[in-house]
Amino acid sequence: MSNMAMRFSGKVVLITGASSGIGFGAALRFAREGARLAVTGRNKDALQKLVSECEKNGSNKDSVLPIVGDIGDDKFRENLIASTVNKFERIDVLVNNAGVISMGSCEAMSMNAYDHMFNINVRAPYHLTKLAIPHLRKTKGNIVNVSSVNGIRSFSGVCAYNMTKSALDQLTKTVALEVAADGIRVNSVNPGVIITELQRRGGLDEEQYAMFLENSKRTHPLGRPGNVEEVASCIAFLASDEASFCTGNLHSVDGGRGVLGVR
Ligand SMILES: NC(=O)c1ccc[n+]([C@@H]2O[C@H](COP(=O)([O-])OP(=O)(O)OC[C@H]3O[C@@H](n4cnc5c(N)ncnc54)[C@H](OP(=O)(O)O)[C@@H]3O)[C@@H](O)[C@H]2O)c1
Repeated sequence: MSNMAMRFSGKVVLITGASSGIGFGAALRFAREGARLAVTGRNKDALQKLVSECEKNGSNKDSVLPIVGDIGDDKFRENLIASTVNKFERIDVLVNNAGVISMGSCEAMSMNAYDHMFNINVRAPYHLTKLAIPHLRKTKGNIVNVSSVNGIRSFSGVCAYNMTKSALDQLTKTVALEVAADGIRVNSVNPGVIITELQRRGGLDEEQYAMFLENSKRTHPLGRPGNVEEVASCIAFLASDEASFCTGNLHSVDGGRGVLGVR
């Protein structure tokens, strides 16, 4: 692999929600580019699979640390940062990617589902950001939050999810201001529909999901949903020194849906 592609040699990247979808793809991308990784999620088998995939993609043995746990738990998040620093002695990049969706309008959504989404999509990245800043200050590192086109634009039937992603975008922009003087950058990627497990885990059955993907051809000006690699490459760009003058950006990876797309 050429040096150009090894943007993360010597760097330590912590990725939440790495057991599936965008987080899994981002971890592989960082592995190919030389990073050491702390990867987390609840699904232990999926994280083990990720470790072996990273090794096939160039990671040295022992340079990918899987940490199994519930990101909704305060104590676990403290352990996550502590275990990463304990193992690698630094953090260069935090990718706040873990997220959940529950379908439902404001009227229909249960308050339990609301609380769960806010806990995973907002409280967890807020807390991890707070815990990571002292370590990022030492490395002049950066944070990439995985938000959504739903943070920027309103879509009916997913009110609380939209709200969590708007809150995450405000976290990105405000913390970017708060830590800019320390040389820490904070950005987000805001994907459109990406083919992962998210919507099926959020309640769509196979038939509804097939229709949702079909509809994405109409709602995304580029005429299709996106794939995990297209988001991973943008995360890696924002996390790399190539984005050294980017902070507080909400970077759309949405086939044009946010600004131009039909609902
Ligand atoms: N797919 C899309 O269309 C799309 C579009 C815009 C934004 N996004 C955002 O992209 C991010 C990644 O989602 P994805 O599409 O890749 O979905 P996914 O395939 O369902 O993956 C979600 C990840 O989040 C983790 N997670 C969820 N709840 C958790 C918990 N309580 N504790 C620990 N980890 C938890 C899951 O890990 P475990 O199950 O192992 O715990 C999994 O690794 C989310 O923030 C999502 O909102 C996705």
